[in-house]
Amino acid sequence: MQEIRLAIMGLGNIGRNLLDILVARQQANERAYGVKIMVTGVADSSGTAVCPSGLDAAALRDLKLARKGVATCHGAGRPGQTALEMLQDLEYDVLLDAAPTNIQDGEPGLSCVRHSLAQGRHVIMADKGPLVLAFGELANLAREHGARLLYSATVAGGLPTVNIGVRDLAGSGVTRVEGIFNGTTNYILTRMAEEGIEYPEALAGAQAAGIAEADPTLDVDGWDAANKLVIIANSVLRRPTALADLQVRGIRDVTLRDLQAAQERGQVIKPLAIAQWTGSDYQLTVGPVALDARHPMALTGMWDMGVVYHTDYMGVISAVIEEKGPVPTSAAVLRDILSIYTGY
Ligand SMILES: NC(=O)c1ccc[n+]([C@@H]2O[C@H](COP(=O)([O-])OP(=O)(O)OC[C@H]3O[C@@H](n4cnc5c(N)ncnc54)[C@H](OP(=O)(O)O)[C@@H]3O)[C@@H](O)[C@H]2O)c1
Repeated sequence: MQEIRLAIMGLGNIGRNLLDILVARQQANERAYGVKIMVTGVADSSGTAVCPSGLDAAALRDLKLARKGVATCHGAGRPGQTALEMLQDLEYDVLLDAAPTNIQDGEPGLSCVRHSLAQGRHVIMADKGPLVLAFGELANLAREHGARLLYSATVAGGLPTVNIGVRDLAGSGVTRVEGIFNGTTNYILTRMAEEGIEYPEALAGAQAAGIAEADPTLDVDGWDAANKLVIIANSVLRRPTALADLQVRGIRDVTLRDLQAAQERGQVIKPLAIAQWTGSDYQLTVGPVALDARHPMALTGMWDMGVVYHTDYMGVISAVIEEKGPVPTSAAVLRDILSIYTGY
């Protein structure tokens, strides 16, 4: 049995649900993959908790469900210690960065990701910030130090958008990518179109369902999808790309009348991230687009996200996920951990 020592920064929706999956699937993972995942250190905004022989994952999950900080963890808590301080003297094989996404300076994730890769430790990302700001640097750091950097959870949660593009299209050229990478905007436009409601009502529905923040700017103005397209451009398309390379438009100005007029033309308006090969470069855009009603992305429902890869030799590959909450993203994090140790 191979023991994997996991450090986790961020025990919110993603980190906490990962603990839940680790508890539920511990025996299945041991049987199927011959691995035992031990959580040796965790960090949240209260501080850290550390135990070299493995923290009790169920107790940690319950502590976070009770809205307590990990620093209160009996016998293991270190109030006020930062994630980076914890990593500097922790025994671990893999770091999960599930801290809040920050696209100003990438922190607190970026310093911890740099530190881990420079030490040859593998890193799994749910946090997009460090990848959006420093993809090339981090990929090089991983290569130089023999570490793996995996981030399949960062683009449309459980949907294997990155894996299909990086691994399964190997050897083919990608001529166009069309993605619904932001669930909130698809939820809003789909409900508007299907129920005949206006934007404010659909947004309020998304907020009530817990999929839109009180300040929905990042989603509805297109920046969350733009972050994800930056990651796809850097990884799948191998194009060094920053946010400034994208044209980004949000969905705030899409009216019910626009959606109905599209329907009358046999079209559906969807929030799309697009990379289009123009012969010398990719044109990268995010915004609402009218699609033929039979297009795979036009067929997505309000809980769905999806991607279509158009390729030169491998035809057109589409994938769609129905994702009603954060759990599939946590499962994608586990997928990445296992893929390091199972050779995928
Ligand atoms: N939710 C999703 O469906 C989803 C999908 C894909 C990707 N993501 C990304 O995954 C990441 C985590 O998302 P989430 O929904 O789990 O967020 P969340 O619920 O807001 O949780 C964030 C966690 O990070 C902790 N944290 C805050 N500042 C920290 C610091 N300085 N050092 C260490 N930990 C710190 C928080 O501590 P406290 O618990 O003490 O507040 C909390 O546990 C984000 O980057 C997000 O963009 C989320």
